[in-house]
Amino acid sequence: MKHVETQTIETERLILRKYEMTDAEDMFRNWVADPEASRFWSWAPHKDILETKSLLSGWIKEYSKLDIYHWVIVLKNTSQAIGYIYFDEIDNDARSLSVHCLISRKLWNQGIATEACKSVLEFAFNTIGASKVHSRHHIENPASGKVLRKCGMGYVSTEYRHYPDCKRISGNYHIYEITRHIDKS
Ligand SMILES: CC(C)(COP(=O)(O)OP(=O)(O)OC[C@H]1O[C@@H](n2cnc3c(N)ncnc32)[C@H](O)[C@@H]1OP(=O)(O)O)[C@@H](O)C(=O)NCCC(=O)NCCS
Repeated sequence: MKHVETQTIETERLILRKYEMTDAEDMFRNWVADPEASRFWSWAPHKDILETKSLLSGWIKEYSKLDIYHWVIVLKNTSQAIGYIYFDEIDNDARSLSVHCLISRKLWNQGIATEACKSVLEFAFNTIGASKVHSRHHIENPASGKVLRKCGMGYVSTEYRHYPDCKRISGNYHIYEITRHIDKS
């Protein structure tokens, strides 16, 4: 794969870009302090914006690496940061990676996660040269599975995942993937 760092992506309603320190207020207002949004993640809801600023400054430093793909999602019509999407588990030999996303609860069920996810799948295949993207969701989080199916990903299996540091998210997960043929000619 050819790593090119987090690049700005524009869709009909969204800008996906690198985080900036000024995103802390929107993050705190729109998702990191919300227990419902963090229900299926290992992080605890933030109690203070200083926590958000500290996390953000660490993420921004990581952008110096070419293989960090971590976008904040900005809604064009309000210019507000409303969630994030990122790649993880990058395997250069297998040309695969995983995708994970969160959208502010105020904006659920408007197709935003699907729009963001479709755009980064294209980026994974066309720009980085991935041949497989996978994802997973807790079985009690069916909206996430719906997003993955709407993006063309197919169900692969269900497996139990144990998170020793965060027992509340241990449980059965549905695994999805999508593959793309790479023309090596
Ligand atoms: C999962 C999440 C990213 C979806 O974001 P979103 O912007 O609302 O997603 P979309 O609007 O693109 O699609 C959601 C779909 O799920 C459907 N849905 C919502 N609740 C559902 C439920 N309980 N059961 C089944 N489908 C459901 C919606 O109807 C919609 O499908 P439709 O377009 O066919 O009507 C968002 O709910 C979220 O951020 N949750 C918290 C973080 C999280 O759990 N992330 C996933 C970690 S694996």
